[in-house]
Amino acid sequence: MSNNYTSNLHIEKAKTSKINTVDFDNLTFGRTFTDHMFICDFVDGKWQQPKIMPYQAMTMDPSARVFHYGQAVFEGMKAYKDDKGDVFLFRPDQNFKRINKSCARLAMPEFPENYFFEGLTTLVNLDRDWVKPGMGNSLYLRPFAIAIDSAIAAAPSDSYRFMIICSPAKAYYKGTVKVLIAEEFSRSANGGVGFAKAAGNYAAQFYPTSLAQKKGYQQVIWTDADTHTFLEEAGTMNVFFRINDTLITAPISDRILDGVTRKSLIQLAEDNDIPIEVRQIKVSEIVEASKNGTLQEIFGAGTAAVISPIEGFEYKDTYYNLPQIEDHSYSSILKNKMMSIQHNLSEDKNEWRYEV
Ligand code: COI
Repeated sequence: MSNNYTSNLHIEKAKTSKINTVDFDNLTFGRTFTDHMFICDFVDGKWQQPKIMPYQAMTMDPSARVFHYGQAVFEGMKAYKDDKGDVFLFRPDQNFKRINKSCARLAMPEFPENYFFEGLTTLVNLDRDWVKPGMGNSLYLRPFAIAIDSAIAAAPSDSYRFMIICSPAKAYYKGTVKVLIAEEFSRSANGGVGFAKAAGNYAAQFYPTSLAQKKGYQQVIWTDADTHTFLEEAGTMNVFFRINDTLITAPISDRILDGVTRKSLIQLAEDNDIPIEVRQIKVSEIVEASKNGTLQEIFGAGTAAVISPIEGFEYKDTYYNLPQIEDHSYSSILKNKMMSIQHNLSEDKNEWRYEV
């Protein structure tokens, strides 16, 4: 995207680092933050000077519109380090495009491309020691934008804040994942914001997911809001189903997030001769496939979740077991292929790695 923003990133380094207080072997997802953060405000119709500063709390007027109307969008991305100490992002162009798509839908101003990439790479470089090498280690990056106008009128804000914070991460889900297929609640509707990474999409899932968790399920797989017939996504991840030897995932729509991991896996499946169909899939199809023994695998795919094999699912009060996770070969093949690319351990023929 071309723009009139020339780079003038201001950097204030932290006086000391917290890194020695962190137990990198025992991280809880999203609880630990690095030494620095990126911040840039939109005021008087334009993005102001972007800054990197020590990670810190910030004050905001209680009337800030983000608190009242949820005008907020975010992204999830990761940095990886190889054994030589080189650091890579994975397809950051996709996150950049998507956050601006989300911004447009939420009536928020788009963020300039050069600010995004310079901010991101400078921040990751400053906090480079927080990116640990080794498969399974990463630095989770959370770009987000919020409405900061001090005004409670229900209208788009005049001012916004774009930030990036970073958190060292291991697996999002500890242990196996069982899912409940939603029949009562819906995640998103036609013409809504389901395709956007809008903060409210996640808040809206907390209550139904908490009910599922009380029944022993970690996640809900959402079905279409109109008929609850078609399987859509799991909220923290897109979902893939393997029936016989074919992998199936739902097409993106205005209700489904265009996941970067999802589209990368579709490409990797094609590159590795794994039959893949991007099409609508009915709940009845996987129930039937489970009953007749042709449902081999279900897995979730997302930046935070990576690839999470699913142990079984509940639908209409019946629990369906999947084959043993050890036998889920497509998810483990694709996970290894993707992580090897991310960690610079294999050829990157699609040019997804972006060196920091
Ligand atoms: C991600 O995978 O990056 C997400 O944004 C999901 C989030 C719920 C952790």
